Amino acid sequence: MARSIQSDRVASDPNILTAHQLRKAYRSQGKEMVAVREVSLSLAKGEILAFLGPNGAGKTTSIKMIAGLIRPDQGWVRICDRDPHRQPAALKLVGAVLEGNRNVYWRYTPAENLEYFGILRGMSGQAARKRGAELLEQFQLSHKRQTLVQSLSRGMQQKLAIAVALMHSPALLLLDEPTLGLDVEATEDVKRLIREIVHQGCAILLTTHQLAIAEELSDRVAIINNGEIVTEATTADLIRQFSGSAYLVETEHSIPAERVRKLHLLGVDLQTERSLHVTDVQVLYQVLAILNPMPIVQIQKDQANLTDVFLKLVRGAQA
Ligand SMILES: Nc1ncnc2c1ncn2[C@@H]1O[C@H](COP(=O)(O)OP(=O)(O)OP(=O)(O)O)[C@@H](O)[C@H]1O
Ligand SMILES: [Mg+2]
Repeated sequence: MARSIQSDRVASDPNILTAHQLRKAYRSQGKEMVAVREVSLSLAKGEILAFLGPNGAGKTTSIKMIAGLIRPDQGWVRICDRDPHRQPAALKLVGAVLEGNRNVYWRYTPAENLEYFGILRGMSGQAARKRGAELLEQFQLSHKRQTLVQSLSRGMQQKLAIAVALMHSPALLLLDEPTLGLDVEATEDVKRLIREIVHQGCAILLTTHQLAIAEELSDRVAIINNGEIVTEATTADLIRQFSGSAYLVETEHSIPAERVRKLHLLGVDLQTERSLHVTDVQVLYQVLAILNPMPIVQIQKDQANLTDVFLKLVRGAQA
């Protein structure tokens, strides 16, 4: 029943999620501290948005506003055109795994947790048991279905937390640091599951400090710093934008003096006896003609990664 929610959606807003100019201030010791200001985000079906930012930037606060857990001071949220703060039915469209996966009961088994939370989200007992069994299968937890959650490994608990959030087949899944503290294998498992879930049409908002994971999984990236979005772009564009046009060329043997002279005439100096930097692709082919037929070890493009982008944007904003 819950699954039909996705397909029945009347699409006047094509986005699964639209968050508009969210603002949240916390008051502590009589002082007001603005944690999130004018944060707007959108997410389409089958899309993963990596929501990145340093500690304390306002990611969890934003996610809690999107999940309907805390009320924004200003701005609004629509999930499939419904307002989670005014229309409780909208909450059936969201699944959330927040920091520290508190959405599972440690004294119950995975099967009990899944059934309990399924029923809580409006499923019948029978439908919840069926869906629970499917998820346990997909998440490779079937063999632990009757083990108390407190006796599961951390990776298994994390996978169960995600399964619980998926019980009612939400259109939007909010994952706040889903791979925190997981080992390599469990991380790979969670990554695989995220890909599967999104392939099934779910939209995912993902926060993580593991930028390689964000780079691998996300279609788009939004970076938040000091409560404000500093960048939003497709992951590929962002990386392209921060990548240089230079190439590093490395030869197997030292480049002979005669060729070095020709390279100088082109305006190219050696970096070491066996390597040089070329600033654009046209010159690269001229350089290769000069080097021909010397064996080349590698030609590498100056390619940025999300960590470079993140550090430049976040540090740039602090400067
Ligand atoms: N309940 C609260 N009361 C007062 N201040 C809070 C509360 N929750 C968060 N804050 C403050 O709001 C700011 C944003 O916190 P938030 O948890 O949203 O950051 P985050 O981006 O999720 O950080 P992290 O990467 O460390 O999880 C921080 O300065 C934090 O101290
Ligand atoms: Mg957080």
